[in-house]
Amino acid sequence: MNRYIYVNGRYQHYIDATIHAEDRGFQFGDAVYEVCEIHDGRIIDESRHMARLARSLGELEIPEPMTARAWHRVLRETIRRNRVRNGIVYLQVSRGAGPRDFLFSGVKTAPTVVCLARAVSPEKQARAADQGIAVITHPDMRWGRCDIKTVMLLPASLAKQKASKTGAQEAWLVDGEGCVTEGGSSNAWIITAKGELVTRPTDQAILKGVTRTTLVDVLSREGLTLTERAFTVAEAKNAAEAFITSATNLVMPVVRIDETTIGDGRPGPHATRLRALFHQVAEAVPAAQ
Ligand code: PDD
Repeated sequence: MNRYIYVNGRYQHYIDATIHAEDRGFQFGDAVYEVCEIHDGRIIDESRHMARLARSLGELEIPEPMTARAWHRVLRETIRRNRVRNGIVYLQVSRGAGPRDFLFSGVKTAPTVVCLARAVSPEKQARAADQGIAVITHPDMRWGRCDIKTVMLLPASLAKQKASKTGAQEAWLVDGEGCVTEGGSSNAWIITAKGELVTRPTDQAILKGVTRTTLVDVLSREGLTLTERAFTVAEAKNAAEAFITSATNLVMPVVRIDETTIGDGRPGPHATRLRALFHQVAEAVPAAQ
């Protein structure tokens, strides 16, 4: 099957899809992105992802490359051409291309827009959720505006690579105070031994995950209380349950942190139930046009 990538107004064959060598996303990491889940032919939480994209663009003073209607079409056409029913749709906007210059006030070209869609096996995801995943802890070496979803992902990439070498699927990043900020590409949650459901408050140290936001809706529907506060690695290792959230993982139970087994080493009941409830609450708009 031919695969297509949308680049600046054209759906190009996968191997032909190219951007300019002096694109600022490439040279400066001067670009933002979003990843939405596609579940059973529907785009999950598209409104919240597009709102966050607009915010990221605004924070970096990158002009909106197209209208909301045009985005709506591009996402769907990319999904349709790649025949994805379950998977992800990825979109990226860089400030554009131009002679390398730290200053961006002189950028004359339009932003660069890329959109691609990829299938992910729901069965594989379900198997991972049945077993739970392992995470390692790693110093958080990122910049001070992690609330903006930029493509400056090298610290996360290095941490996740290290996790992978030890057989873990995610790295929990740890700040100077010994508290977990978030995962390399997910938000981090625990349920303490006393039953307190905890995740870090959203400030400039973490990304305000769309899955996190929707899970807060699930919690209020279930009458569960959330405490938003920082938690230490020691507290996490003593927790009854732990899990991560992201568009690619939904709610994914964590059963090991470094060498420490969490609970009885199996996915906890809360994480499992919250995962099961997630799609009942999340926005799901058909990907068909
Ligand atoms: N990452 N924190 C970080 C640092 C992330 O990169 C992500 C998502 C999240 C969770 O956000 P959301 O619930 O909106 O997916 C939190 C995406 C999935 C990625 O980079 O692939």
